[in-house]
Amino acid sequence: MGLLVVFVGGSRRDSGTGGASCLRGRRPDGGPGSGGAAIEQTAVHERAGMLETTLPEFLALAGEPVEFRALIRQVTFAAKRVAAVLRVAGLQGLLGATGEVNVQGETVQRLDEYANEMFVNNLLRSPAISDLVSEEMREGMHLAQHNKGEFALLFDPIDGSSNLDVNLSLGSIFAVRRPQDVLADGHGQIAAGYVMYGPATVCVLAMPRHGVNFFTLDPSIGEFLFTRGPVRMPDHGSAYGANEANAGGWSPKVAAFVEWLRGPGRHSTRYSGALVGDFHRILVKGGVYLYPADREHAQGKLRLLYEAAPLAFIAACAGGRAVDEANDIMDIVPTAIHQRTSLIIGSRREIDRLAPPRG
Ligand code: F6P
Repeated sequence: MGLLVVFVGGSRRDSGTGGASCLRGRRPDGGPGSGGAAIEQTAVHERAGMLETTLPEFLALAGEPVEFRALIRQVTFAAKRVAAVLRVAGLQGLLGATGEVNVQGETVQRLDEYANEMFVNNLLRSPAISDLVSEEMREGMHLAQHNKGEFALLFDPIDGSSNLDVNLSLGSIFAVRRPQDVLADGHGQIAAGYVMYGPATVCVLAMPRHGVNFFTLDPSIGEFLFTRGPVRMPDHGSAYGANEANAGGWSPKVAAFVEWLRGPGRHSTRYSGALVGDFHRILVKGGVYLYPADREHAQGKLRLLYEAAPLAFIAACAGGRAVDEANDIMDIVPTAIHQRTSLIIGSRREIDRLAPPRG
């Protein structure tokens, strides 16, 4: 089914979601690529806040093109299936490893495979899609023979899979790009989001014109309902999350930054071992998540295209920022679909201290 595809980076059209942008033309520091200020409430948010508004209704109210709405419908359909299976996986014996090792050299869990199939099978049905890139697939899938779709979807079907066997929060992360922008920098993203499978299943969707919005799954009707937005990440926070067992291999700059975070009266530590949940906390409450390069992960551990860049896009749309220590994540031009990166993401005040914006 999968065909090897060579992605050509570079060209960039205006966002399919179009119009005024939280990412363009509103950069508080004026520096290249550092993202923008959080978007203010629009008439769409006001309307959606007054009624019980489903995610598809929100996108229609927001005037999003029908192809984009179809794409998000397929993504959230897959996520609903994943959420449903996660609820019963322990009861139905679906936990545990497959015995395979993925392209990243990591143990594949049965639910990693299941979630990947859910996403791929649903997305194959979407005429809006022409390319798929998944953490679980060695090569990108080029569907142009079947679909003449205008979007590429890059996704991590289950992020934080070490939490699977212990019934803690997990997530699916996705980014929408134009097919010709798969290997463009983070500004080549049209929209990005994640679904967090926690006590509630929440879809977080960032769109340039409408900011970052939360939609909570009501399992009794099987719909994601608008619950909050546009979300603004606090300018600073009181917690940071990192795997401190790796601290001995961090750069002196990162080590000094974390030392500062831990200074008197500053931040406490919150780390669950699953990026989506840890990032979600920071999006709501402010603070920093970091997985910098270390001895074992010389290029960093996280993947640029379907982990770091989508979360950097969401952070920028909410007024936050993400760097790899020196560069804004949004400015990094990938050279490979499974490229890794350091990621330090969160509130502006903290991130600007580590990596002052270039003027
Ligand atoms: O995708 C990788 C991931 O599972 C993230 O969700 C998480 O933040 C990180 O790795 C955890 O890594 P570690 O177990 O090394 O702390």
